Amino acid sequence: MSTQSTQYNNIGGHYDSIKQLPGNLLDTATLLTYVGDIEGLEVLDLACGSGFYSRKAIQRGARRVVGLDISSSMIEAACRECEGDSRMEFLCCRLQQAAEWEQVEMWRNVFANLKPGGRCIGITTNFDMLEHPFPKGHQFGLEWKILKHVPGGVKFKMSAAVSPPFDIEAYMLSKEVYESSAREAGFSLLEWLDPIDPKDPRIDFKTMSRNMPSKYFQAWRAVE
Ligand SMILES: C[S@@+](CC[C@H](N)C(=O)[O-])C[C@H]1O[C@@H](n2cnc3c(N)ncnc32)[C@H](O)[C@@H]1O
Repeated sequence: MSTQSTQYNNIGGHYDSIKQLPGNLLDTATLLTYVGDIEGLEVLDLACGSGFYSRKAIQRGARRVVGLDISSSMIEAACRECEGDSRMEFLCCRLQQAAEWEQVEMWRNVFANLKPGGRCIGITTNFDMLEHPFPKGHQFGLEWKILKHVPGGVKFKMSAAVSPPFDIEAYMLSKEVYESSAREAGFSLLEWLDPIDPKDPRIDFKTMSRNMPSKYFQAWRAVE
């Protein structure tokens, strides 16, 4: 059984405590800015966790959201949080069968589920850390430790200083892996997006800019 299918089962509804950390406040502000106007659209929330962004999409006028996640307890938390709102549906499913650090199959699934002209927008770990590791210790409530090298990147453990604290194991892959995988799946361009300063007193944006926890991207499926 893979790490990804079990580790979040122990976190479940606690995961959302991470949303108060500076990096996650920045993620939310940045993602929602680029998502923009989605009135009347259908949204697929891949690796939806407890459905945080699914609910945001509905608040922003999406007509329907389907959230998919490998962890049954994250899906249970998402169902609980949406309180029977029939515009949201959450299903437990694995986004790819390939090795966890391979991306092409996942990007193919993204491409196949977009209408021509549709857009995929997402957040991932800041791969600049592969070249320039962050200073040791917690940075804005998060700490990263490399566990092993894999093709195209590393497997890492991220510890979140929230209450109760938790660790997540995941993969940090190079920019080239993202770009070549998206291209192989049919996307002509994977665009990297600048973080947006949420102008929130809880965030020192200038200091954070030196050690950004996340990268943001979007890819359009071309109109045929
Ligand atoms: C960092 S959490 C993000 C959750 C949510 N998108 C959010 O921002 O609140 C990553 C999620 O990806 C899910 N996940 C990891 N690998 C997956 C896979 N292969 N298929 C489906 N879900 C996966 C995990 O169970 C977890 O809920």
